[in-house]
Amino acid sequence: MIGTARNGVEISITGLGCKVPDRVVTNDELSQYVDTSNEWILERTGIRERRIAAPDEALSDLAYPACREALQQAGLQGSDVDLLIVATVTPDMMFPSTAAILADRLGAGDAGAYDLSAGCTGFMYALAQAYGMLAGGLAQRALVVGGDILSRILDWDDRSTLVLFGDGVGAVVLQAVPEQGFIGFELGADGAGGANLWLPGSGSRLFDDPEKYVKMNGREVFKFATRILVQSAEELMEKCGITIEDVDLYIPHQANVRIIDHATRKLGVPSERVVINVDRYGNTSSGSIPLALADAAADGRLRPGQLVLMTGMGAGLTWGSALMRWTKEMEVAA
Ligand SMILES: CC(C)(COP(=O)(O)OP(=O)(O)OC[C@H]1O[C@@H](n2cnc3c(N)ncnc32)[C@H](O)[C@@H]1OP(=O)(O)O)[C@@H](O)C(=O)NCCC(=O)NCCS
Repeated sequence: MIGTARNGVEISITGLGCKVPDRVVTNDELSQYVDTSNEWILERTGIRERRIAAPDEALSDLAYPACREALQQAGLQGSDVDLLIVATVTPDMMFPSTAAILADRLGAGDAGAYDLSAGCTGFMYALAQAYGMLAGGLAQRALVVGGDILSRILDWDDRSTLVLFGDGVGAVVLQAVPEQGFIGFELGADGAGGANLWLPGSGSRLFDDPEKYVKMNGREVFKFATRILVQSAEELMEKCGITIEDVDLYIPHQANVRIIDHATRKLGVPSERVVINVDRYGNTSSGSIPLALADAAADGRLRPGQLVLMTGMGAGLTWGSALMRWTKEMEVAA
């Protein structure tokens, strides 16, 4: 799916918030659980540490403060929200949806609220959906949450996956704005590659599978990621008549510094325009892009008028890009 967002209605991000768990887990700490080392993890992934949720912390517990911060930035109350989408693969439970739980906690009693599953690309899918609902006039003020508590579905004896992921959540408010906001979206999925990154014992096919953990073919996912980050961004830029020189800030999915470096080189983005925080958070799945947005806002790199390119990829296999002009000065506590 690809399309420009030029139908006479301008929609943008008017609020942004994030939340990560307090507990920092370093590479050295992980080497107490599995046969790995700080050197190996740093060299192969660029990750130094990640945040891990407390045993009693569920997704909605992290999402709630992120949503409150985003709403405050936008000058809105929970009751103003009429659409709430939570992109995640680790909801509080299968049902009720985490979106419904959050809508209740936020006082968004009139909101359509649902969870969306598109692996680490979930936030990009949710942005595109919210854009479409707002542009189509079905909703006026959307809250889009991307986040995961991946640590809950990792096998803590499997070094090939344990070292890569972390927990975290970001939230944005989408509204109509007077100036240009979103410019276009590209989304895709390739279910044939699904078994390269999956959680087979998690649904109606294999619910009794005792191994309820993420399984991954790292090399295949690496190949997919390096190809798709470039392809998706290039296709979208061409569709929107934008060149890489126009892009002020590139926000790729934070999976691995080597994957990001590859995409950055191929696309020709100068390194000072790339946002990287995978070193501090690891791969937070659907939380990755909104957390990177929040980091860029916090360090003053995300300013009104800037052209922002975001590309996510992940389980499905799925991918998605968005181009937008940032429209609002924001103070975000990263
Ligand atoms: C997982 C990944 C970091 C592995 O890096 P790699 O350079 O491909 O490493 P390999 O898989 O070739 O493994 C090399 C060796 O390191 C070992 N190894 C794997 N994980 C290790 C770890 N955490 N610590 C130490 N050694 C490890 C392997 O067993 C292998 O040993 P061998 O040569 O004796 O068989 C890399 O493939 C990757 O980043 N893939 C993408 C994963 C991803 O981003 N997934 C989420 C997408 S949303």
